Amino acid sequence: MLTQLMRLLLTGASGFLGSAVGKRLAESGHELRVLGRRVPPWLPAGSGFHRWDAMTGAAPVEALDGVDAVLHLAGEPVAQRWTKTVKRRIQRSRVEGTRALVEAISRLEARPKMMVAASAIGYYGDRGDEDLTEESGAGAGFLAEVCAAWEQETLKAAELGLRVSRVRFGVVLGRKGGALAKMLPAFRAGLGGPIGKGRQWMSWIHVADAVGMLKFILETPGVGGAWNATAPMAVRNAEFSRALGRAVRRPAVVPVPRFALRMMFGEMATMLTGGQRVRPAAALEAGYRFKFPELEAALKDLLITR
Ligand SMILES: NC(=O)c1ccc[n+]([C@@H]2O[C@H](COP(=O)([O-])OP(=O)(O)OC[C@H]3O[C@@H](n4cnc5c(N)ncnc54)[C@H](OP(=O)(O)O)[C@@H]3O)[C@@H](O)[C@H]2O)c1
Repeated sequence: MLTQLMRLLLTGASGFLGSAVGKRLAESGHELRVLGRRVPPWLPAGSGFHRWDAMTGAAPVEALDGVDAVLHLAGEPVAQRWTKTVKRRIQRSRVEGTRALVEAISRLEARPKMMVAASAIGYYGDRGDEDLTEESGAGAGFLAEVCAAWEQETLKAAELGLRVSRVRFGVVLGRKGGALAKMLPAFRAGLGGPIGKGRQWMSWIHVADAVGMLKFILETPGVGGAWNATAPMAVRNAEFSRALGRAVRRPAVVPVPRFALRMMFGEMATMLTGGQRVRPAAALEAGYRFKFPELEAALKDLLITR
């Protein structure tokens, strides 16, 4: 099938996912325009750039003029100690940032046809062994509340006539950032291990599939709604630790006590000690073909030295 080339507006373009997906979309021939705090180093010459900080209000309407679709990924990093100020930044950059973006869209005479916006599986809260699909309701806790409020703002774009997709990313595994880059030094030193008893579920996704899904949603007519960006086979934290230990050829048996994480990260530790068993029902239903459905192959691909 021939893909229709689009003019795309991207936020969060200097980040881990934004860089990966932005490069891929540009390589595929789409025209990019970036809305953000700085020009990403990877941005091809001739692409557009408009300055905007998701924390500080109104988005420039001219940035959205003539755009076919918006891919909105901006947000203060979540994997840091949640002080009061940080929690406020996590919330404001997402909820108020998305509100400002949708408000700018509402002012356009000719609006984009689609908005694809990030969310996170944190939406579901800590849910034990429950089988979670996009139909499952929001959970409890700080992240779940932020995600629900963030998605509510995204949904307002649907009221403006846009096709909208809220992409609930799982733990994105990649070489150049995200959780794996943070875990690797400890695992390479043989100091990695399960968190607590390691029974909590980890719904992960290879960055190639996170990027592949965003591209698929943008390019496939009629696809939208809530979308779990996770691999079809979630694993328990203990299994993940064992697989990562095997991949770096180091033992990964010493458990990380929960209280130590609590001391290090405060409330953010709940993100590591809790978990969700998420199923990507929308992706499977829409016929998205996973490059890395299994963890062993995903880790092997990511840890191979090139
Ligand atoms: N990576 C994951 O495993 C994962 C999992 C679940 C959900 N997500 C969500 O997916 C989105 C992209 O994730 P990512 O890993 O690419 O994040 P990232 O590397 O932290 O990048 C996020 C981008 O958002 C912008 N940003 C950061 N803090 C901001 C602030 N305080 N105010 C305004 N803009 C700010 C920055 O872009 P500019 O400087 O270019 O403006 C930054 O590059 C995020 O919303 C994240 O919550 C990611």
